[in-house]
Amino acid sequence: MNERLAVASESVGAASGQGAAGLPVQGEGQGHGPAARRATRWPVEAPAKYQLLRVLGSGGMGTVLLARDRSLGRLVALKFLRESCTTFLERFRREARLMAALPHPAIVKVHEFERCAGRSYLSMEYVDGGNLALARLAPRELVRRLASVVDALGFAHERGIVHRDVKPENVLLDRRGRALLTDFGLALDGEEGVGRRAGRPLVGTPLTMSPEQARGETATHASDVFSLGVTLYRKLCDEWPFRGRTVADVLGAIERDAPPPPRALRPAIPRALETVVLKCLEKDPGARFGSMRELRAALDRSISGGFLVAVARTLFAGRAREERPGPRIHPEAQW
Ligand SMILES: Nc1ncnc2c1ncn2[C@@H]1O[C@H](COP(=O)(O)OP(=O)(O)OP(=O)(O)O)[C@@H](O)[C@H]1O
Ligand SMILES: [Mg+2]
Repeated sequence: MNERLAVASESVGAASGQGAAGLPVQGEGQGHGPAARRATRWPVEAPAKYQLLRVLGSGGMGTVLLARDRSLGRLVALKFLRESCTTFLERFRREARLMAALPHPAIVKVHEFERCAGRSYLSMEYVDGGNLALARLAPRELVRRLASVVDALGFAHERGIVHRDVKPENVLLDRRGRALLTDFGLALDGEEGVGRRAGRPLVGTPLTMSPEQARGETATHASDVFSLGVTLYRKLCDEWPFRGRTVADVLGAIERDAPPPPRALRPAIPRALETVVLKCLEKDPGARFGSMRELRAALDRSISGGFLVAVARTLFAGRAREERPGPRIHPEAQW
């Protein structure tokens, strides 16, 4: 499950999103003259208006760095397209455009899309609490935070955009208690989804992919509902609902197997919340929630009843553990 299927292999090991191993980390107070730039081996070259501070994460599409905008004094996240992935430029540009076209409080804001030293980068709002993959949240807090992501997905769906890669690493948390959706690198907008050739490649991240995506069919709003269900399941149970040793095993499990009921793994999960998660994970897209609005209402209801928050906190407390949903599959690499 750890080998990258379609993108440069060096990107796989660094997919945790929290300061990739081997990449430099620099304190905010460090210098930024030419000498300092030479001394620090940044994986990218940024324009002089930004002071690079540290690596925030790295994935299939690129490397994300924390930087300070010198003139405005604000912190930004700069996502640089991988050098080895220049053929992904069009998709990267689309990612920037789609995010810019989706002004929503729970979708990361884009500031600019530019080029420096032959590499394209995206400057965006910095979200200061890491990604959801690395967080430990009690069920009620998890649902409260993900509710805004559900709203954000609904907002995108109403504009004809399917995210196609909803997973814990693509949900960012901030220290004010919010959760924001990011990474529209695989998003599908209206025109793109229809009339595609048969036998098209898999697109998405295997562990969080819907059965229809696993079969190579076009993703729809219901596919995002499924992946959101996988994300909820993973964070509630600390297990993936569909597992396997290889990508083919995982995809087979997604298509065939019923997930173990969340309460069998974590009895403290409220029954109503379990029902919501399992409905998201229905194989038949028509049997899932019909819209993000419907899902949001069910989630709200599922935690409005009383349950033992203290028990849940005890059960879910513990050391955050790094998790990797594995590499995702980029369409361009297979077309
Ligand atoms: N705006 C941001 N603020 C803070 N951290 C960020 C931001 N954007 C991304 N990151 C961090 O960088 C990681 C990788 O970002 P992103 O998902 O956009 O890259 P990617 O190359 O498309 O990833 P993948 O192919 O693995 O999905 C995120 O999981 C997160 O930890
Ligand atoms: Mg990502």
